[in-house]
Amino acid sequence: MLWFPIDRDTSISLVQQVYTQIRTLILSEQLKEHDRLPSTRELADSIGVSRNTVTDAYDQLIIEGYLIVKPRSGTYVAEGVVLKAAEKEQREVDLSNWLQTEQYDEQLIDFRASHPAMDHFPRKVWGRLAKEVCYDSSDELFGYRSPLGDETLRRVLTTYLARTRGVSCHPEQIVITAGATQGLSLITQLLMKEGECVAVEDPVTDEMRQIFTKAGAAVEPIKADRLGIKPDQLPRNKKPSFVFVIPSHQFPLGAVLPIQRRIQLVEYVRKMDSYIVEDDYDSEFTYEGTAVFSMQGLEPERVIYVGTFSKILSPALRIGYVILPRHLVEPFKDLKWFSDRHTATLEQQVMARFIEEGYLDQHVRRMKRIYEKRRKALVAALRNTFPGLDIIGQAAGMHAVVEWRELEVNQSFVSHCKKHGVVVYPVEYYALKKGYHTKQMVLGYGSLTESEIQDGVSRLHKAVETYHLS
Ligand SMILES: Cc1ncc(COP(=O)(O)O)c(C=O)c1O
Repeated sequence: MLWFPIDRDTSISLVQQVYTQIRTLILSEQLKEHDRLPSTRELADSIGVSRNTVTDAYDQLIIEGYLIVKPRSGTYVAEGVVLKAAEKEQREVDLSNWLQTEQYDEQLIDFRASHPAMDHFPRKVWGRLAKEVCYDSSDELFGYRSPLGDETLRRVLTTYLARTRGVSCHPEQIVITAGATQGLSLITQLLMKEGECVAVEDPVTDEMRQIFTKAGAAVEPIKADRLGIKPDQLPRNKKPSFVFVIPSHQFPLGAVLPIQRRIQLVEYVRKMDSYIVEDDYDSEFTYEGTAVFSMQGLEPERVIYVGTFSKILSPALRIGYVILPRHLVEPFKDLKWFSDRHTATLEQQVMARFIEEGYLDQHVRRMKRIYEKRRKALVAALRNTFPGLDIIGQAAGMHAVVEWRELEVNQSFVSHCKKHGVVVYPVEYYALKKGYHTKQMVLGYGSLTESEIQDGVSRLHKAVETYHLS
């Protein structure tokens, strides 16, 4: 006798419940092909519902092909209703990279870099502006728009970036992208030529490196030291399609590239007829001295500037921008159109209002105070706990690098730290050429509170103390 429970306290109709229960029994093969179902009266009595309820559920399952009626015989499970699970080998996907960045254990204190303080997103203002934009916008804004992006946002950005980053451009040179990631991927597609390489400062995030390699580029590592990329290491005998740099706050070493090296880089790309791609992802948050202006302002014809709202506001917005020399705008626009048409218009309009009405400046000032406190908490905790430890690259952004005298920051140490409840990131992990950064680790503090930072450093202390004993 077929039986299953019926819930009378839910808003799901009885017919829907009977239908779902039988369908589930069929899909899980508890009811098999050719099995005969009880008559509508039998099942109604068994589960305590009316006969009409069962008849309606059976009818729906017959319409969808799960059941068939054999005249003068009864209702049966039809043939071919079970989709077998795919072969195991086909379904196994290498999740190691994702787990590394996505897995989140509340018990762990994770010094992951580049994550902003998500609990400080200006929800109220953003929500109000989003509502206004939705109600106020003309009908055209709901259709396809220019691949360059929203005109108002590009105009507002031109003024904002000239003031805050020394960027020199016309709104027609800006393309709004789905974050820096899409910008860098399209730049690689645009500039990469057969047989050429992309010169990339080393170390660099694996994410950035993979953007280039997945877009088909061969990556040529160029050593970066505590001052940033070393232009004298750039290849002289072959032309790179472009040189990728983060001059305002190198990731992960945190260097601010000095003007002499910036000039050397510009001279190099002029001579080689190449480009500099400048990633300027978190330099609004500068704590020592004033923010260094962009390289784009030095040579707008040879520098492609890539910016993003991922760190300054939230990565979930997926809004970034690329500023191109004029002659590259048309082909880039074409690539953007065939990639995703354009970035979502309403969000761009909200962003434009957010900047125009002064909320971005306000937010940056507020966040800078918060990150500054977090940075101070980290530096103080490290200095108190590990006197004499070298802390570098903490003048800007949301991460610092520590360099140990003796300790090798390798896989075994990282696992040992995890056992003590703290996650740290070896600089060596980001290195293209291995062996130069084995004693350095990155500590991101953007998304941790001051007490979490202190707790994290004391966990790190325990891990260091017990490391050689384990
Ligand atoms: C070096 C660097 N640039 C830019 C970004 C931002 O990428 P997106 O704007 O696609 O979120 C990141 C993200 O972590 C980064 O590490």
